[in-house]
Amino acid sequence: MKINNTIVYKIFGSMALVALIAACGRGPNDPGTEYMPDMYVSQAYEPFTQLAEAPNKINADGKNMREPAKRTIAQGQLDYYYPYEKEQYDDALKNVKMPETIARNPENLAIGKHFYDINCYPCHGDQGLGDGPVSVKFPPNNIPSYASDRIQTLAEGGMYHSIKYGKNYMGSYASVLTPTERWCVIQYVQYLSKKAKASTPATATVKDSTKKGN
Ligand code: HEC
Repeated sequence: MKINNTIVYKIFGSMALVALIAACGRGPNDPGTEYMPDMYVSQAYEPFTQLAEAPNKINADGKNMREPAKRTIAQGQLDYYYPYEKEQYDDALKNVKMPETIARNPENLAIGKHFYDINCYPCHGDQGLGDGPVSVKFPPNNIPSYASDRIQTLAEGGMYHSIKYGKNYMGSYASVLTPTERWCVIQYVQYLSKKAKASTPATATVKDSTKKGN
């Protein structure tokens, strides 16, 4: 059977015309008819700025997230008991101790290992010998081995201070680790330090950049 081309052109031509007319009169940003609007208009909840027309019915202020009670600190966010500043390293060495609320137990050690492997391993190495994959980019012996006398005798307050504020080439981890996580990492550093000391002859010496003239 032979199909008349003219008829085919006419049919498709008029379909295109209808589509063109239907699309006319709408702005370029008009999405057209929405058959399933939920798929286009998401019902997102904003934690602190809930839409006025759909307030959260459970919380009195209509917001989805409750603000912490005034003058309180969320668990795990407790920092130094008094305001240490970047300059107060020596003070931190003497006075900052692991809070009693952070037990030295296998669970916290495991948390410490978790965050150490993510954040510290690249420089300090998996055993804390200062030989992580990034260490080759540093001047020799710049990253202290945890087997060194310096780290063996370094008070945990100093570690905390350095993790919080950073020290020379080491950046600050204040925005990455909560205070509790920092203390857990310190537990793991101390664990590695003991282990490294036990398996390394006491030859490792590392310069102490906190002392002048070094
Ligand atoms: C970019 C490499 C790098 C990373 C990542 C890094 N460090 Fe360091 N770290 C250093 C260097 C370099 C020093 C030596 C700083 C100095 O004394 O000049 C150092 C020093 C230290 C010290 C001794 C601080 C002191 O007070 O003398 C501790 C403890 C330590 N790091 C722990 C950590 C922990 C824990 C992490 C992970 C949360 C970490 N480091 C991540 C490079 C790094």
